[in-house]
Amino acid sequence: MIILGFESSCDETGVAAVCTERGLLAHALHTQIAMHQEYGGVVPELASRDHIRRVIPLTRQVLDEAGLQMSDVGAVAYTAGPGLAGALLVGASVAQSFAWARHLPAIGIHHLEGHLLSPMLADPRPDFPFVALLVSGGHTQLMRVDGVGRYELLGETLDDAAGEAFDKSAKLMGLGYPGGPALARLAASGDAARFDLPRPMLHSGDLDFSFSGLKTAVLTRVKAAEAAGGLDEQTRADLAAATQAAIVEVLAAKAVRALKQTGLKRLVVAGGVGANQLLRARLAAALKPLKATAYFPPLALCTDNGAMIAFAAAERVKAGLAVLDADAPHSFTVRPRWDLAEIG
Ligand code: KG4
Ligand code: ZN
Repeated sequence: MIILGFESSCDETGVAAVCTERGLLAHALHTQIAMHQEYGGVVPELASRDHIRRVIPLTRQVLDEAGLQMSDVGAVAYTAGPGLAGALLVGASVAQSFAWARHLPAIGIHHLEGHLLSPMLADPRPDFPFVALLVSGGHTQLMRVDGVGRYELLGETLDDAAGEAFDKSAKLMGLGYPGGPALARLAASGDAARFDLPRPMLHSGDLDFSFSGLKTAVLTRVKAAEAAGGLDEQTRADLAAATQAAIVEVLAAKAVRALKQTGLKRLVVAGGVGANQLLRARLAAALKPLKATAYFPPLALCTDNGAMIAFAAAERVKAGLAVLDADAPHSFTVRPRWDLAEIG
């Protein structure tokens, strides 16, 4: 069965076609980063309007690239939450309209389930069970994954998400939006050892995280540098490197602890921060002594995309967890706040 999937929860419009037997057939993405950049963050109303503009051309592109007719599509999937309400409504209404017009079943997908399963789009594909480190702009969670729909929360952030820590620290250093990639780029020419930043909750003995204190520590360093004559380029790079090192060290240490605690040998990293090269290198090194393996989504599928939504729907269909009812009413709702533990 071919599933057409739509992602529109934040500032990326993603569309993809996935076949339950053959996997990913085609995907297309439009990122709104350039549009939101001048405001220093995502403007929800602009995001919604841009999703409306992009979604149909992207759908045509995906069908063309996959060599599909609309009549080949067997089901439609969309991100039902969590995310920005107006933005979510665009993907949901387009998907439900498509399903209504073609008399197809429509499947609402949890955005984080999309991220969680996205490393299975890579080759080699991890087998269940595994520990998942979900690190995005809005979430930082460690989960035990025993199968599709079988997710157990092991630990999570008590305040800021890892991506948020990157973004907020980057903003303090005068870097643009989104801060994560910009901070990582600047860190490449910096010396992490110059600043001793805190590693929040590194030794807390559990699997929870806290990143808001790190942001405060970065602010203190920025103010001190400014008072001492200005934040020069090398100081900014050194501070970026130190910030990245602190976040990565905590993420890697807790991921290792989760593997030890569960006795599992596979770690799957998903979400935008999974694109971070230092995190990838650190995890690879930290997992070696445990004889454990780290799996990452293909770099292009780390941040938000339609492929992970269509793929999660396909996996739910194969696991018998999706209701495939073309006669179901096409009324719909979205859930801007939605706990992954609530889905079955
Ligand atoms: O998963 P995602 O695209 O969107 C959410 O669902 O939040 O993640 C976006 C987050 C942002 O905070 C961004 O700064 C961060 O991922 N990010 C990175 C990198 N690329 C994206 N953080 C650190 N290093 C990167 N290379
Ligand atoms: Zn995301």
